[in-house]
Amino acid sequence: MVERVLAPKLQEGDTLFESNLRPFNLKDFLGQTKAKEKVGIFIEAARKRKEALDHVLLYGPPGLGKTTLAHIFANELGVKIHATSGPVIERIADLASILTHLNDGDVFFIDEIHRLNRVVEEYLYSAMEDYKIDLMIGEGPTAKPMKIKLHRFTLIGATTRTGLITSPLRSRFGVDLRLDYYTPQEIERIINRSASIIKIKITDDGAHEISYRSRGTPRIANRLLRRVRDFAEVRADGIINLEVAKGALEMLEVDPLGLDNVDRAILMVIIEKFKGGPVGIETISAAVSEDKDTIEDVYEPYLLRQGLLAKTPRGRTVTPLAYTHLNLKPTHSQAGLFKE
Ligand SMILES: Nc1ncnc2c1ncn2[C@@H]1O[C@H](COP(=O)(O)OP(=O)(O)OP(=O)(O)O)[C@@H](O)[C@H]1O
Ligand SMILES: [Mg+2]
Repeated sequence: MVERVLAPKLQEGDTLFESNLRPFNLKDFLGQTKAKEKVGIFIEAARKRKEALDHVLLYGPPGLGKTTLAHIFANELGVKIHATSGPVIERIADLASILTHLNDGDVFFIDEIHRLNRVVEEYLYSAMEDYKIDLMIGEGPTAKPMKIKLHRFTLIGATTRTGLITSPLRSRFGVDLRLDYYTPQEIERIINRSASIIKIKITDDGAHEISYRSRGTPRIANRLLRRVRDFAEVRADGIINLEVAKGALEMLEVDPLGLDNVDRAILMVIIEKFKGGPVGIETISAAVSEDKDTIEDVYEPYLLRQGLLAKTPRGRTVTPLAYTHLNLKPTHSQAGLFKE
């Protein structure tokens, strides 16, 4: 059930491409200066004290490097990482079996930790706090509960949704690390690093162009780079320059803000069917046929961040900027938006 791997190895669900590009040392983890500085200090301190690191909660939108950082922690500390994810741990017995196999200092990484079921989550509390768990030894009427002492492990939890983490769980993490969208300059460095790994030539303006359309997200930057590389190899002489990057991104229908078809569909639905909003997330989800959680996790944060969408108590509304971006004029009833 659980993958027991020594960092750095392939992780379940990763494409080979992603894992080839995944940095394994803190020095190769580009951008996120604030988070990185903190991580460096924690690692150094744990090393000096020869103690397990405090439990770490990593949060932020998908594709920003949470899994990558968890592996970097283990790698830099020279310990094993045991990786699993919230929904995979169904029963207390599953969790107990992982916990009892952890050695001193090991990293236990739980991805999507907000999706742990309540019973399992509560069982985790005493493991995190006292490094002890209750185990039932034996079976049937003769079964007896026994306290088992665990090694001092480090739990690293990752989530895209801090709002869904219960406060008792949250309070048991000593370190909170928030990853935010990267700047285009940081993304440009990541693109250049990836390009050199996959051995594709890219000009500065080519990398620049892709960086602005990557939604501040390394995973997207790497995906776009791969698609643009295909385009460069088939349509051009194998070098990614400005023209090639532009042509490829237009073909992929990724616009200058990095919005794709789904982002635009979300904005268009709100404008065309709901007069610009406010409209509830369920309604939007039904109208664009996208899963509600995916909209909340993947699409919405970036649209909010870009100021194209706003959250109100009655639902989501598009902003004047969304009309401008889509080359649309607001109708009379929507024009009120512009007075604010
Ligand atoms: N700071 C960084 N520098 C260089 N590359 C990075 C960085 N952060 C992430 N990447 C790249 O982006 C990819 C996605 O990162 P990762 O899988 O760690 O994201 P995540 O936050 O765990 O996403 P999810 O929420 O979907 O699990 C990695 O394979 C890696 O190649
Ligand atoms: Mg991840």
